[in-house]
Amino acid sequence: DWTPQSFVEETVEALQEQIGNDKVVLGLSGGVDSSVAAILLHKAIGKNLFCIFVNNGLLRKNEFESVLSQYEGMGLNVKGVDASARFLDALAGLSDPEMKRKAIGRVFIEVFDDEAHQIKDVKWLAQGTIYPDVIESVSATGGPSATIKSHHNVGGLPDFMKLKVVEPLKALFKDEVRRVGASMGMDVSILGRHPFPGPGLAIRILGDITAEKVRILQEVDAVFIDNLKSWNLYDKVWQAGAILLPVNSVGVMGDERTYEKCVALRAVESTDGMTADWVNLPYEFLQKTSNEIINKVKGVNRVVYDISSKPPATIEWE
Ligand code: XMP
Repeated sequence: DWTPQSFVEETVEALQEQIGNDKVVLGLSGGVDSSVAAILLHKAIGKNLFCIFVNNGLLRKNEFESVLSQYEGMGLNVKGVDASARFLDALAGLSDPEMKRKAIGRVFIEVFDDEAHQIKDVKWLAQGTIYPDVIESVSATGGPSATIKSHHNVGGLPDFMKLKVVEPLKALFKDEVRRVGASMGMDVSILGRHPFPGPGLAIRILGDITAEKVRILQEVDAVFIDNLKSWNLYDKVWQAGAILLPVNSVGVMGDERTYEKCVALRAVESTDGMTADWVNLPYEFLQKTSNEIINKVKGVNRVVYDISSKPPATIEWE
């Protein structure tokens, strides 16, 4: 009979056998899969696990700092690398969604490779790959492993891709990964986290990306997500986020007409991201959230709610 406890025991033993005293590098994304993989490996090999958490500048508001300190609190040997400026530079002037994804994938690989080189004699690359990633070509869960997979053929193989690969969650489904994490005492704030795409807010800012647009979207997104949590709606939603639209619309403030940004809110129910329904959020919630966004976030004067289901409307707008 499969239980999370027996899985942990057997996997820790197998990892110790397989890895011995070798060093392992792992890219943390803040997501469930890479976090559980890290804790499992940490249990098996301790300080020989070297985690790298890259800030691409496209994460949620305060996410890098708060997740990094959570990782440190769990005893992980983790290095936070703030490469925001490098990613923003690479994205400058790009509007095409696939070009944006490629630029982000390329810079991620460069940054990760630089960091991996600084770990002396590293032998293994650990990844939080789960069973659905193995059977589907595109990961719905995102994170460094997805980024690496879809971009490893750009410009030759980086050195860390030549390492031996260890994927301790490869046979598990998402709910099993969460149970394994819980059985190791991991916090629900990590295990219950919504999926978040590897390219982050870059694909939620339609059109080209600037630091100012990222700031606006982070503020809007934070109001939306904080409200979902305080209304106890966060766990009823599979994924939620805000989209910064490439349109300005007219508003009125006092006697003045404004011409400012419009944002869309999206919240979906789903089991695997392949199909999705928009969530029937309470009108009162939408009303309060919309008011709060418009009052708090400078540069935004209109909020709309996305009531499209997948198919045909994808969860992300890009
Ligand atoms: P769509 O928009 O295709 O999204 O309905 C389905 C799921 O995949 C996520 N997604 C991505 N994840 N890199 C990722 O790591 C990407 O480029 C990407 N695009 C979409 C999306 O957030 C949703 O969970």
